[in-house]
Amino acid sequence: NAMFSWQRTAYHFQPQKNWMNDPDAPLYRLGWYHLFYQYNPDSAVWGNITWGHAVSRDLIHWLYLPLALIPDSWFDIAGAWTGSATLLPDGQVVILYTGDTNNSVQVQNLAYPANLSDPLLLHWVKYSGNPVLIPPTWLAPKDFRDPTTAWVGPDGKWRLTIGSKVNKTGIAIVYQTSDFTKYELLEGFLHAVPGTGMWECVDFYPVAVNGSLGLDTSANGPGIKHVLKASLDDTKKDHYALGTYDPISNKWTPDNPKMDVGIGLRLDYGWYYASKTFFDQNKQRRILWGWINETDTESDDLQKGWASVQTIPRTVLYDNKTGANILQWPVEEVESLRVNSTEFEEVIVEPGTVVPLHIGTATQLDIFAEFEVELLGSEAVEDNSSCSDGAVDRSTVGPFGLLVLADDSLSELTPIYFRPTNASDGSLKTYFCADESRSSLANDVFKKYYGNEVPVLDGETLSMRVLVDHSIVESFAQGGRTVITSRIYPTKAIYGAARLFLFNNATGVNVKATIKIWQLKSANIHPYPLDQL
Ligand code: FRU
Repeated sequence: NAMFSWQRTAYHFQPQKNWMNDPDAPLYRLGWYHLFYQYNPDSAVWGNITWGHAVSRDLIHWLYLPLALIPDSWFDIAGAWTGSATLLPDGQVVILYTGDTNNSVQVQNLAYPANLSDPLLLHWVKYSGNPVLIPPTWLAPKDFRDPTTAWVGPDGKWRLTIGSKVNKTGIAIVYQTSDFTKYELLEGFLHAVPGTGMWECVDFYPVAVNGSLGLDTSANGPGIKHVLKASLDDTKKDHYALGTYDPISNKWTPDNPKMDVGIGLRLDYGWYYASKTFFDQNKQRRILWGWINETDTESDDLQKGWASVQTIPRTVLYDNKTGANILQWPVEEVESLRVNSTEFEEVIVEPGTVVPLHIGTATQLDIFAEFEVELLGSEAVEDNSSCSDGAVDRSTVGPFGLLVLADDSLSELTPIYFRPTNASDGSLKTYFCADESRSSLANDVFKKYYGNEVPVLDGETLSMRVLVDHSIVESFAQGGRTVITSRIYPTKAIYGAARLFLFNNATGVNVKATIKIWQLKSANIHPYPLDQL
């Protein structure tokens, strides 16, 4: 539908048409990155969930392949739901995925490639003994889904975890297996957090305390922490925490119980859900995928004929400067799309002003911006504002930042910004926010305030990286400590009419901004040439 064509992204992954949700079973093998995804082949709304499949050499340019798993058996007839891949040392590949059965029971199924020498992994076989796992009797049969990638335990057997809940306590349970067909439930929980409800799409992986490499999912020992992530069904938010995994007791313990899974940090403070990582043995890094849902109406989605986008894959590292969070950063391959860089050095933005950045069209951008703050008069007054106050609310030292996907008359604009505050308890905090309240003149879309505090250490300047792609904005503060994904629906700030500005809405500071901006080319995302399959 041409009416909505400007919302299509140019370098984010999305199917040609119809509905997509969670990323599934990402993996790298024989020169190809594989992405599977929850897909409705028939409509732009959720249903008839099938596994879509695409491959890439570089995580940026994609080739759509035929559907990988079709819900055509009693053990997945109501949907082939989310799952993960495990690469075995002998070269085999296994996928475990949730099937919604003919009785609406959630079970786990095993699938494997029909031909391991096919680098595209076109054909998948469902194991004849499926399902391989049925819900334990003490769990509700509809609360048992989304198996993780397996890791090796101290006894050499594989383990994997599955999310669920008991009453309102979110839990992760662990199974052990040696052949992926027979499983034993290990005693107790990997972890449980009261009040967090059903845990979907649990992700569990090691991160190195030092260094810049990712780790294989089975890595453990000194110098390693484990990230536990759950997608909270009740709030549709992805939460994580850092902790330690003891494979003997099979328990994960959070570093800081106050920041436990579901009550502390979020992976992304924007519109983002059902994320999943994999270890890329090609470049020794851990890569995170996440689903960006729509925030318009179902009837708009049906009219435009598609719904949802995946984020740009992000590398994940432990932040050894704060010791309290992970760092997310767009994979380096996105930089291969960069053309026409423009630099602006030490631009002074005075209180209450907006400065246009003349870069031509501003719909496909990679922006890196640093901000220094100069207090003009007396000291900053106390204020307790945060992201929920939006970018219009003014205080002595903030907010300031960028206006992306704005039109010339500023009738549409999305501020991505910092808000340093002096809270009345004496603490200094910096918030990183996205204010979507004026992002669109359309009135049937969500237009919310997003964001959270971002750690800023002594001597650090404020910095942000922002990827703009027509209707998606992914924003990373302080090297990726706090991340916000925006799904917005501009109607005027589109194609050649989209502009980029600096703004400073503080009352008592000048902001000095240094910015580098690249236009980004479109990625090639199209069907694999059929005659070559
Ligand atoms: C998360 C989720 C998963 C489930 C899948 C179904 O978005 O609800 O828990 O497996 O989507 O499409």
